Amino acid sequence: MLDTDLSLQTADVQLAESSRRMIAYTACALLLIAPLSWFFVWRIVGVPVTALRRGTERLAAGDLGYQIDVQSKDEIGELADSFNGMSRQLQSEHNENVAWTRTLEQRVEQKTRELKRAHEHALHTEKMASIGKMAAVLAHEINNPLSGILTYAKLLRKWIDREELDRQKSGSEAGVRRYQEICDSLDLIASESRRCGDLVRNLLTFSRATPMNLQATDVNQVIDRSVRLMQHQLDLAGIQVQPQLDPALPHVLCDAAQIEQVLVALVVNAMDALPQGGNLWIISSASREDNCVRIVVRDDGTGIAPEILPHLFEPFLTTKETGRGVGLGLAISHSILERHNGSIEVQSEIGRGTTFTVTLPWDAEADTTASSPASEIAAAPSRR
Ligand SMILES: Nc1ncnc2c1ncn2[C@@H]1O[C@H](COP(=O)(O)OP(=O)(O)OP(=O)(O)O)[C@@H](O)[C@H]1O
Ligand SMILES: [Mg+2]
Repeated sequence: MLDTDLSLQTADVQLAESSRRMIAYTACALLLIAPLSWFFVWRIVGVPVTALRRGTERLAAGDLGYQIDVQSKDEIGELADSFNGMSRQLQSEHNENVAWTRTLEQRVEQKTRELKRAHEHALHTEKMASIGKMAAVLAHEINNPLSGILTYAKLLRKWIDREELDRQKSGSEAGVRRYQEICDSLDLIASESRRCGDLVRNLLTFSRATPMNLQATDVNQVIDRSVRLMQHQLDLAGIQVQPQLDPALPHVLCDAAQIEQVLVALVVNAMDALPQGGNLWIISSASREDNCVRIVVRDDGTGIAPEILPHLFEPFLTTKETGRGVGLGLAISHSILERHNGSIEVQSEIGRGTTFTVTLPWDAEADTTASSPASEIAAAPSRR
């Protein structure tokens, strides 16, 4: 038996020392590793998850198309990629929806406008129809007594002329004057009756009671005739006519007399709008795409007040003094063009002038001479 009398005290001290040192190292290592691992976990999981959370919040708040910037290739990266894809998809679908909504809104607006226009047109047609009916009855009722008045005025004038011829030769001065007064009064009755007759005729045209005489017509010739008819008054008023007629205008199926009536009404209105003289353009053209012939009558006169424009084609609208205008010219023109399946439109600016555009449908079958010779007026300058 070996008895060693070794003291364990030193060993115990060393053991305790190394234990302490071990604990200290472990504590140091833990202190170092913990923040590092926390940093790595935060960097690899925390940051992308926060980004994902922020992304979902932005998406929920309506920021469609919001993209998360996560580059990692792990599951979190895949999650971020699918989030970005979903966000893009949502955005493009939202954009599509917005575009559709806008298109739908535009279509609804357009349809509403069309409906409004159709409603206004229906109202106008209804109004015109009832005025037309009234005009037809009135015209018919007035016409008969009127022709009686006119006939008897003329008859009386003839009798007086015959009887008075002998008496005048030997009669007194007062007798001659009396005779003249009677003649003047009878002339006045006759001319006023004729004026009423014109009004009745106009009312009948407006009420569509006059039949249409449709024929293939060279519109340039109708323009020519209308201008010639008014040329003298135009010259007196100091109005320069500027015709620009398309020499290759196709023939249109229309009632030439009624179209002439429209053109004369437009020329007379232009004359009234040019009290100090000015220019009157008459332009004819054909649109083969729209299958129509257009006549533009433009003046550089007074222009029309914007508040009157929407009612311009209504009957009895006039700004002229009593005796100078009844307010039927444009209403009749509108009615004539409606019956021709055409149209009349107006553009005007106060102080700058007025443009009327008459459109007549062009029927290729009615166009017997596609290229008619240019009207004389096309080349001839206005007589002044
Ligand atoms: N070219 C124009 N320039 C300015 N105003 C115009 C023109 N054409 C028409 N007008 C306006 O439109 C109104 C209506 O015209 P419309 O031809 O229907 O009737 P009117 O000329 O007054 O009378 P009517 O033609 O029955 O003798 C006119 O009173 C005038 O105020
Ligand atoms: Mg008129």
